[in-house]
Amino acid sequence: RAKREAEISRHSQALETANTLYRQQLRTATAAVSYLKGRGLSGEVAARFGMGWASGDRQGLSQVFPTYDDPLLVEAGLVILSEDGRRYDRFRERIMFPIRNGRGHLIGFGGRIVGKGEPKYLNSPETPIFSKGTELYGLWEAKQAIRSAGQVVVVEGYMDVVALAQMGVEHAVATLGTATTPVHIQKLLRASDNVVFAFDGDKAGRKAAWRALEACLPLLRDDVSLRFLFLPDDHDPDSFIREFGLEGFRAALRDATALSQFMLGELAERHRMDEAEGRARCVHDAKPLLQAMPAGAIRLQIQRELATLTRLTPEELGQLLQLQDVPSG
Ligand code: GTP
Ligand code: MN
Ligand code: MN
Ligand code: MN
Ligand code: MN
Repeated sequence: RAKREAEISRHSQALETANTLYRQQLRTATAAVSYLKGRGLSGEVAARFGMGWASGDRQGLSQVFPTYDDPLLVEAGLVILSEDGRRYDRFRERIMFPIRNGRGHLIGFGGRIVGKGEPKYLNSPETPIFSKGTELYGLWEAKQAIRSAGQVVVVEGYMDVVALAQMGVEHAVATLGTATTPVHIQKLLRASDNVVFAFDGDKAGRKAAWRALEACLPLLRDDVSLRFLFLPDDHDPDSFIREFGLEGFRAALRDATALSQFMLGELAERHRMDEAEGRARCVHDAKPLLQAMPAGAIRLQIQRELATLTRLTPEELGQLLQLQDVPSG
């Protein structure tokens, strides 16, 4: 454990050193600054998130690391060691988003290209201290705001988090380009008992919302609120709040769909509910979802509504589902 602490601290310090350079470089990177201004971001918000700029210099980090061939830099994902033994910076010509863990330690970066190009975002690789499937961008920065809002908003992108903060919604966090995992849900529920998912209004975003719902099921408790905000087609939280303003976004948050409604609505939409076969398949598909939920009033409520929807008696449905009496955590 002490060894792990030391490792986190060594990596984290290397990342901090890099970030000092990135932040300093952003001040004079005119193209990056005008790109950010063009997206409506102020210097204050950029500073608040510690945003920076990685220059096009192949070994830019050698400015702050006198021992550029230190294996630590490769391990920390800052430097790439090519097959012919040459080393160069992983992040070049990118706007840098530092990613902190729940205790504020710097654990990785996301880097966005300015304008068009591939890949649009480049993240730190998985390292001993950075795992995309468990971290949430902005959680550290948002902690206080989450407490005072009594809510946490989950979005897909770095830019969504920063743009929402710019517009006055400071309690948003983002998954790091991965599906929402049960570990994410655990962290979210530790931060607040009121979670709203606000993914992009495209096909990928709707799919991501369903995956998030699945990740939520094992942790459903009767005293938590989990909701889903479905943005209009092709909007993401960033573009939505720019078009409809803070009040528009707040109204959308208030109107967000409850998890139960999303789940039952989606199940009904996926089947021919006007036919016995469709209703049977609906029960079949709902079974693993209900089985994933701990026993509690919310499961009973969903079960009752599902019975009505599939025209079964609650007893018949109960028998088909064979739910275990696992108490909620
Ligand atoms: P902007 O175009 O800057 O507004 O970003 P966005 O967040 O709206 O992008 P998008 O909706 O396409 O993607 C959402 C999130 O998925 C991003 O914030 C990234 O975390 C991740 N992502 C998007 N594109 C890439 C990519 O090319 N590579 C990787 N690794 N992740 C990506
Ligand atoms: Mn994309
Ligand atoms: Mn998208
Ligand atoms: Mn966007
Ligand atoms: Mn987006």
